[in-house]
Amino acid sequence: MVDEPNTRPAEVHWQDLDIDKTARTLLHPHRPCVIWFTGLSGAGKSTIANLVERKLYPHGVHTYLVDGDNLRHGLNADLGFSAADRVENVRRAAEVAALMADAGLIVLVSLISPFQAERARARSLVAPDEFCEVHVDVPLAVAEERDPKGLYRKARTGELPDFTGIGSPYEPPHRPDIRVDTTAVSPEEAADKILRMLRDRGTLP
Ligand code: PPS
Repeated sequence: MVDEPNTRPAEVHWQDLDIDKTARTLLHPHRPCVIWFTGLSGAGKSTIANLVERKLYPHGVHTYLVDGDNLRHGLNADLGFSAADRVENVRRAAEVAALMADAGLIVLVSLISPFQAERARARSLVAPDEFCEVHVDVPLAVAEERDPKGLYRKARTGELPDFTGIGSPYEPPHRPDIRVDTTAVSPEEAADKILRMLRDRGTLP
């Protein structure tokens, strides 16, 4: 567990509920899991996460894809790209993912999530065998060459001064559960690798 200040008032207590995670998990043919995709903008996180979800759906697997760009349209619409805002962005996404895992879902999170400490915190919110960190790894030069949204170009001209990899740091995972080099494998191969791991772990039947 990552140390952090606890500002919760002492009068706030935990409420035990009758239907717990074990009971909810029995409603699904699979076990819950958080699959956390981290990597530079343009690495291919959302493409692979989307493909994994599409492959799981026909098997009756209850999933939800928490996408960074989409979260920033609602829950995280008040956050920008300063280091502090990214920390809060990842913290909220991690809490949402943990709640969804508690509901019994397989949750796919696609977020740059540039800082090691926040990813470690996200991992600490669920059981050890319920978290899978996927590093969607690509050299910065390749992501910049792809530039699907034209954001690297804006970063280089100074329009986006805090863009990840240019004006803002990205800390790669030291020991991700899965590393996918999207210059070497297709999204299809990457998705299949993740599905194999879910079967090997017993997350999927
Ligand atoms: S973070 O770092 O985890 O809080 O970022 P995230 O919530 O995943 O949002 C990343 C998407 O926001 C767009 N965008 C930027 N990314 C990085 N740095 C800056 N300054 C920035 N401004 C906008 C960009 O489309 C990212 O989406 P992806 O899918 O990663 O390309």
